[in-house]
Amino acid sequence: MLKNKVIVLGISGGIAAYKAADLASKLVQCGAVVKVVMTWEATQLVQPLTFQALTGNPVVTDMFEPAPLSAITHVSLADEADIIAIVPATANIISKMAAGIADDILTCTVLATKAPIVIAPAMHNNMYINPVTQDNISKLKARGFTVIPAAHGRLASGSIGYGRLPEITEIMGIIQQTLGKKGDLAGKRIVVTAGGTQEAIDPVRYITNNSSGKMGYAVAEAARDRGATVTLITTPTGLSPVAGVDVINIRSAQQMKEAVVKATVKTDALLMVAAVADYMPKTTAAQKIKKGAGGLTLELVKTPDILSEVKGKFIKVGFAAETQDLISNAQKKLTGKGLDIIVANDVSAKGSGFGSETNKVTILKKDGKPEDLPLMSKREVAEKILDNVSKLLKGKK
Ligand code: PMT
Repeated sequence: MLKNKVIVLGISGGIAAYKAADLASKLVQCGAVVKVVMTWEATQLVQPLTFQALTGNPVVTDMFEPAPLSAITHVSLADEADIIAIVPATANIISKMAAGIADDILTCTVLATKAPIVIAPAMHNNMYINPVTQDNISKLKARGFTVIPAAHGRLASGSIGYGRLPEITEIMGIIQQTLGKKGDLAGKRIVVTAGGTQEAIDPVRYITNNSSGKMGYAVAEAARDRGATVTLITTPTGLSPVAGVDVINIRSAQQMKEAVVKATVKTDALLMVAAVADYMPKTTAAQKIKKGAGGLTLELVKTPDILSEVKGKFIKVGFAAETQDLISNAQKKLTGKGLDIIVANDVSAKGSGFGSETNKVTILKKDGKPEDLPLMSKREVAEKILDNVSKLLKGKK
């Protein structure tokens, strides 16, 4: 979580500097304390005042600006930073950092810090793919910097190529992941499923349900931010991809089963958040079914029950989406599917279940008392579930 984390946001002089304003704003909205350091070149592109207004903190642009008597600016910034994020990072600043040059406030701060450093290179394609830049990026990676690869697309010059600043949501995700590297799930592998499976009727139609993927994505993000290596197996959703996790895209229950079996060969926990169809059409028509005179009858057969069928010595967490007899139905699934935990999800309660930002759940455990949680954000629900997974993993050592 970003709340109260001190993020030193370094901005160097690339045209994508204007996008750093959005990043600063979003970080502040998440509760982070953002301290902006700009190179002289960056100040030629965006006014420091923009960042001061967005962060509520003075913006440092000059090595020799008067600082409080007790503080040497670059050293105090370097010390207080929980993380330094350089967005955008130009070829020039990357080269300077790789060579250990400290000739301005940003490079001095970088050299003086023990905090983790994330950089998001953004520049013209030819500069990005130039072996000098790539060598310097490799050097920084080898020294422990986290480098977010530049995205492909339209560049300021009008040409198409690698060099675009990645989406701000991706940069936020990587910052959160880097901050959480030493969390309670560090070194653990977690597999999460999300979304509603799609069972094809013909090439253009399918049977599905109302899952938006939000609950599963929240679990994947929370596990990532607690240090886990996460595999997210997801159906198509309208959500932004989760940065920093291994994403496997599938559609049907059968495909999800195959992906889960493969991903759980080496895992510490499986969290099946996805709403998996219980039935699928017996056959899928090869061509689009034409409208006839009468109705259409579909024969449905059972899908594989992934949670019951997947084998291995990892912690198994299921969700039970219920509209009645919540606890007794969930309890039956807990024992019937051989789970360690089941999250009983009242999908008929207001603000809970499919598509909502919040959820109302009771966590039932194979061993231990049920936890009836109030309505809370899906991220908060995810954290509560992971608290339990983390405890079980500690007990397994
Ligand atoms: O995606 P959102 O819009 O955020 O909504 C979240 C959610 C409501 C989908 C989620 O919180 C939830 O309740 N997920 C479980 C939905 C579900 O399929 O419940 P179930 O009671 O039918 O299945 C019980 C468990 O068995 C689930 O963990 C399910 O993933 C698993 N299952 C079900 C069928 C099947 N063939 N194989 C399975 O493994």
